[in-house]
Amino acid sequence: MIMNLKSSVIIIVESYKNHCDLVRIILITEGKTKIEAPDPESFRTKAGDYAPSLTEVFYNPDMEFCRDISISVAQVAAAMLSKLYVCDPLAGVGIRGLRYANEVKGVARCIINDRSRDAFELIKRNISLNGLNSAVEASSTDANIVLWGNPGKFNFVDLDPFGSPAPFLDAACGSLSRRGILALTATDTAPLSGAHPRACLRRYGAKPLRTEYCHEIGVRILVGFAQRIGGLHDIALKPLLVHATRHYFRIYLLGERGAKRADADEVFKKMGYISHCNRCLRRTFNFGLVTELPQECECGEKFSHAGPLWLGKLGDEKIIHQVAQDLANRDFRLKNQEISLLSRCAEEAAGPPTFYDVNLMAGLMKKSPPKIEKLISALRSHGYFASRTHFSPTGFRTDAPVEEITKVIRGA
Ligand SMILES: C[S@@+](CC[C@H](N)C(=O)[O-])C[C@H]1O[C@@H](n2cnc3c(N)ncnc32)[C@H](O)[C@@H]1O
Ligand SMILES: [Zn+2]
Repeated sequence: MIMNLKSSVIIIVESYKNHCDLVRIILITEGKTKIEAPDPESFRTKAGDYAPSLTEVFYNPDMEFCRDISISVAQVAAAMLSKLYVCDPLAGVGIRGLRYANEVKGVARCIINDRSRDAFELIKRNISLNGLNSAVEASSTDANIVLWGNPGKFNFVDLDPFGSPAPFLDAACGSLSRRGILALTATDTAPLSGAHPRACLRRYGAKPLRTEYCHEIGVRILVGFAQRIGGLHDIALKPLLVHATRHYFRIYLLGERGAKRADADEVFKKMGYISHCNRCLRRTFNFGLVTELPQECECGEKFSHAGPLWLGKLGDEKIIHQVAQDLANRDFRLKNQEISLLSRCAEEAAGPPTFYDVNLMAGLMKKSPPKIEKLISALRSHGYFASRTHFSPTGFRTDAPVEEITKVIRGA
């Protein structure tokens, strides 16, 4: 039987008993790769999205967008690192690892692992289905065991867990070769963005903050945490690309082991704290893990603080352009949205930490908000950095002080 789900052609392969429900295993094509996976229709919620954790073997069709971008990042990484040795230690049906091996030129070896035995069975079938038996190895153990079992062996490690990648970061850094990419997904965006601050402190040793740019704070906490774990291994980790999309954060870090001490120290020098004023929206950046924080804003209000977190650049424009170029040459069905996300990430990468919300700023001044593009060009004409941000459709990133922004909005 053949049916259509979104644009993928699906063939029902078989059914198997999962808890109390019979789950159909179907054939799905994503990118150029075929996989057998539980039928997403069997775990679609009333709201129309998917709850893949309801099935024994994980496959989330909504992550195609994220995976497509990963393919192009890996292709750019393959050009940088010559050959890729990939580990996908939390693989579900194996779609990420399989797509790397199948769609990226230069993958020499790929280990695909999931501790679920059902997932392992599907991973093995999916490797054969794509004729990848010579380059890909399946395993079924704890992710940390695979990673610790391969010290210094991988130059592309993709941690795509349920929730937080924190429990796997130490082993992932241990498995990274002298130069390599560490790709991380975090779906625990609520703690990282300040909805559950105690969980964030417990997991990441950092304080989040509810502000208009709380997702950026979350991403910066995640980057900073990974860098501190990298530091234990003498690996300097620098962000090549980060994005916050829907329910997850995704970050790609370039790691250099045994980095010159100056490089490793450089990373730590760019960690610090953000102090935010809830009254006038001023923010200050306080560099250094051990540093004095200002207590009071110039307007007299007490500052709130977030951190420790990464205060450096959130991406490398050159690399992001290469990733977008690679995507442009592929025929992924979501490529237009993927490329427009990347162009926004590239545009804002050179900017300072944090952004302002045009409605919030204008509301504070009891003015109607100006057109965001007009505001950005006015700030640029005053000599400031100004760009949009992928984090929010009403956000603008600038290094102009809050008084200058106010003047520009008044004049607009
Ligand atoms: C979010 S899913 C992976 C999704 C997959 N990477 C994809 O793109 O479809 C997380 C997977 O990790 C597996 N898992 C959870 N904890 C694990 C552990 N400690 N070791 C190995 N696998 C684990 C789960 O069985 C699940 O399949
Ligand atoms: Zn203030």
